[in-house]
Amino acid sequence: MILNDKVQKILFGGDYNPEQWPEEVWEEDMRLFRLAHIDVVTLNVFSWAALQPDEDTYDFSRLDRIMELVKKNGIKVCLATSTAAHPAWMARKHPDILRVERTGMKRKFGSRHNSCPNSPTYRKYSVALAEKLAERYRDYDNIVAWHIANEYGGECYCDNCEKAFRIWLKEKYGTIEELNRVWNTAFWSHTMYDFEDVVVPDLRSEEFEWGGRLATNFQGISLDYNRFNSDSILACYRLEEEAVKKYTPDIPVTTNLMGTYKTLDYFKWGKHMDFISWDNYPDSQAVPAQVSLRHDLMRGLKGGMPFALMEQTPSVSNWHAYCKLKRPGVMRLWSYQAVAHGADTVMFFQMRRSIGACEKYHGAVIDHVGTENTRVFREIAALGEELDRLGNELLGGRTPAKAAIVFDWDNWWAAEYSAGPSKLINYCGEVMAYYKALNEMNIAVDIIDAEKDSETDLSDYRLVIAPLLYMCKDGFDERIRSFVKSGGTFLTTFFGGYVEDHDLVVTGGYPGRLKDILGIWVEETDALPEGEENSFFYKGKKYPATLLCDLLHLQGAESLASYESDFYEGMPVLTCNRMGEGKAYYVASHSDDAFYRSFLGELCEELGIEPAARTPEGVEAAVRENENGSFLFLLNHTEDETEIILQHGGTELLGGRTFEAGESLRLPKAGVAILKRD
Ligand code: GLA
Ligand code: ZN
Repeated sequence: MILNDKVQKILFGGDYNPEQWPEEVWEEDMRLFRLAHIDVVTLNVFSWAALQPDEDTYDFSRLDRIMELVKKNGIKVCLATSTAAHPAWMARKHPDILRVERTGMKRKFGSRHNSCPNSPTYRKYSVALAEKLAERYRDYDNIVAWHIANEYGGECYCDNCEKAFRIWLKEKYGTIEELNRVWNTAFWSHTMYDFEDVVVPDLRSEEFEWGGRLATNFQGISLDYNRFNSDSILACYRLEEEAVKKYTPDIPVTTNLMGTYKTLDYFKWGKHMDFISWDNYPDSQAVPAQVSLRHDLMRGLKGGMPFALMEQTPSVSNWHAYCKLKRPGVMRLWSYQAVAHGADTVMFFQMRRSIGACEKYHGAVIDHVGTENTRVFREIAALGEELDRLGNELLGGRTPAKAAIVFDWDNWWAAEYSAGPSKLINYCGEVMAYYKALNEMNIAVDIIDAEKDSETDLSDYRLVIAPLLYMCKDGFDERIRSFVKSGGTFLTTFFGGYVEDHDLVVTGGYPGRLKDILGIWVEETDALPEGEENSFFYKGKKYPATLLCDLLHLQGAESLASYESDFYEGMPVLTCNRMGEGKAYYVASHSDDAFYRSFLGELCEELGIEPAARTPEGVEAAVRENENGSFLFLLNHTEDETEIILQHGGTELLGGRTFEAGESLRLPKAGVAILKRD
């Protein structure tokens, strides 16, 4: 159970901002919440200005009334600390709280998620507020979680951050000599004489815009700044966490994450969060696998523990280029998709649509019309009723995955900071290529980290895939080596193993630390501009080789396919090496969906990794298991009604029908079924 034992169902609700409304409206909200089966609200996300009108005054009177109202109505609370947007007086009196952008521009008061993480003012007052809230509301037994700040993120390059960066570096490297070594400062006369010489690597120093992305002259410096920035913001989270725990040690603490968000190393964050929660706002163009990947990543941050879906829009977001409505049934479908991948809550932003500023056209449970007579409200109420009926049946369910994909923020930063070999290098894109193939075959995937001292035991998996593992960190290669030796199957790709933790090249031939495991030596790499391709035949079919083509030599591995053209025609593009009891595959180029499907399909079959179910194209199947049983989710992402032949019998929980093995189950467009298997 991620929240507490008192929670006996999938909580249903979301961000509620009564402070934006006169109190007469609140009672009406309660009536509508009852109609919609809402049982949890996230309160107090952006109220700092009202809670602390000046340096010494705190005013909780309105929040007291809201807390009482919600309690009286039997609604649980996810209580936010309100520290994601500072009050105006604080910015006026203490400009150290204002961030400095990458360009060197000092911001003024405004926007949100706007405080410098190393500002003494921010740390002092955010912690004080969190502590006061915990002290004041400690006896409310309907608080199910603390929600610290909101969607932490961004960067700051101010003087305080620069000073803190130096301290962080000193702690990490000890001596200036070591710093010079790991940053390779002999290049371009960058030798630092003292930690005081270090400056933040923004656009005023090492960074520049190139080909539509952020580039740097010194990857090692930029990489360390990213780590430092993520740690600085995490420190803010941890300080508030500590503050609330003083008074409410038993209330779990979280903050809402954002999926594949590049700026924060969420694996590091996950270790310090009691449970993971995240906000799911896919673009209307996103394929289902993209969303599933993010859910699986979020689940992976705490070793497969269920997470909270903290926010999603009931209908529409206001900030996409085209704010396309979720079609009828899609809100329900995507809610169950989250649950299928490990969510134990279904929550929205926002409960009542605000009337001013940038979120007034963002979807809400209660629209501007103010009544229950909307399509969106009806869909929400129907889902709420369904979740009531499901009760605690699915809670705590785990995903039984035999395949894992490695995901690593350090690697993401380093690979995309790399000057060369191609501006098309896209870490998440490469992860997605492999994930999508597995997901579309209904193969469960865990997303795992790439640390030396990880809590993940690789031997839980039969197949471990590390797409574009440009940086192979200290000790990770050793984990892979013993995984393969003892019978595991490892797969990695082009641009792999080049560098160690500081982005220093591992000499002796690519793929560096992975060379012996893969039994190859990559001598050169050819970057193909967009539109150009090489090709290869695999099992009689021709597939494209694009983006990067490694020119490699076999050093123990066998070649499974080779390039069809250019001066490296005949050189291997797909290899397999045996090591101990296991195998290690190398995919030396980027190919297409058809290749990944076919290749990974065969690999899974050979390894006995079974799909959750065999379904028509576009129908996703996923399993969760808990002490109540094994639950098969069937999610129809297609535009048509479809039919699934069930391999197992069981009871379908949403409609109540029982099925025999071999029977067919019909799913309408956007339909969902949850089969409790016999
Ligand atoms: C984020 C924030 C919310 C709200 C929504 C709108 O997830 O946490 O406060 O701004 O986006 O989509
Ligand atoms: Zn700063």
